[in-house]
Amino acid sequence: MRRLTAVVCAGALLCLSAWMFTSCEKEKYSPTPYEITIPRYFPTALNIPADNPLTEEGIELGEKLFHDPIISGEPSEGLCCASCHVKSAGYDLGGDNPRLENGRPRGAAGVTHHNALPLCNLVFNRQGYLWNGSVAGEKNIEDIVRTAITLPEELNASEDQVVAAISADAGYREMFRKAFGDEEVTMDRISKAIAQYVRTLISAESKFDHYLRGEATLTDAELRGYILFTTEEGADCFHCHGSAGTPLFTTNLFYNNALTAHPEDPMDRFSVTGDEMDHGCYRAPTLRNIAVTAPYMHDGRFNTLDEVLDFYNSGLQSSPYASPLMHKLPDGGACLTPSQIADLKAFLNTLTDEKFIQE
Ligand code: HEC
Ligand code: HEC
Repeated sequence: MRRLTAVVCAGALLCLSAWMFTSCEKEKYSPTPYEITIPRYFPTALNIPADNPLTEEGIELGEKLFHDPIISGEPSEGLCCASCHVKSAGYDLGGDNPRLENGRPRGAAGVTHHNALPLCNLVFNRQGYLWNGSVAGEKNIEDIVRTAITLPEELNASEDQVVAAISADAGYREMFRKAFGDEEVTMDRISKAIAQYVRTLISAESKFDHYLRGEATLTDAELRGYILFTTEEGADCFHCHGSAGTPLFTTNLFYNNALTAHPEDPMDRFSVTGDEMDHGCYRAPTLRNIAVTAPYMHDGRFNTLDEVLDFYNSGLQSSPYASPLMHKLPDGGACLTPSQIADLKAFLNTLTDEKFIQE
């Protein structure tokens, strides 16, 4: 009997100490889960890798790193993610960016191959990242961060040098402890934290969103533009750039939009799929905040929205690769009147989310 009591007591003690140990561990490392509020009518499936759940502490660290030239190499010139993904430009380059050169950004050691992309609603994209969709499947935003830090045309840093610089900063070490459980700084953790932050960049407060929720009315011109955008008889933009039913204002799929008759970019969609029909194909960019995300297209060839609209109205280039969804190709474009083009532009301007882009 006494022996049994002793065993029970020992067992209870063991349980108690195990409980104390784990709860004490938890107290040391208990980041606060961050729940993305999915805007009404947005897709509900999120692209978040299982090994990098969002936490308040991770996002805070990621936001700081995103804006800190500590992650850039030589010549630093104060370069960071935010140099090419500027908030006031919808986290895209922006037409007045001092780094802009021939439609593309100049990084630490050279100009990037493509124009930049806006960091907006990326967490809802499950079709692949970058212009050509090469980051997909097992690869995710974490991989883009790593590449951005080391690519000569972007931040041109060495991983060791970045890890060493951040490790030398006590404030950062404390932030890593809060986000990841201990002070160790690694490229894996740096990439994870920044990717977490990027996933929180959600734009759903444009005038058009307010209209969809019954909180604002569109002007007659904006409404006419919306109808042009979403009808085949009109400007026929919605197949690839979405509409109220696909509120990301992109399908995130890949098309050749008849920009050029002889596509010869070694980093287009063809370079990823090897499918002959994918020459000159790119991911349709979101049109959210499109008024502020100049320059436009994968090569940044257009500086203004007016130039883009001119192209879709009368500048389409025939080729065997053009998407069958470019219904206006036989006519060279949508052939809208100047006042219809003004209406279409008025509609596109309703996609600007002032809250998202305000400094
Ligand atoms: C020198 C300018 C430059 C810097 C600095 C830069 N980027 Fe980019 N970023 C680009 C360009 C250009 C692209 C498009 C590349 C492509 O698709 O070919 C891009 C694309 C991306 C994308 C993919 C977006 C999408 O819709 O697929 C993400 C995410 C991104 N960058 C995040 C970052 C982060 C995080 C940093 C900092 C670690 C960073 N970038 C630094 C120029 C830059
Ligand atoms: C067949 C699909 C398709 C249709 C239809 C289409 N687009 Fe596009 N759009 C694309 C693709 C793909 C790109 C990127 C092409 C590139 O960079 O070479 C693009 C790029 C753009 C851009 C530049 C975005 C940026 O961030 O650089 C704007 C603006 C745009 N389209 C507006 C429109 C408008 C307005 C219409 C209707 C008149 C329209 N598109 C019709 C597929 C399409």
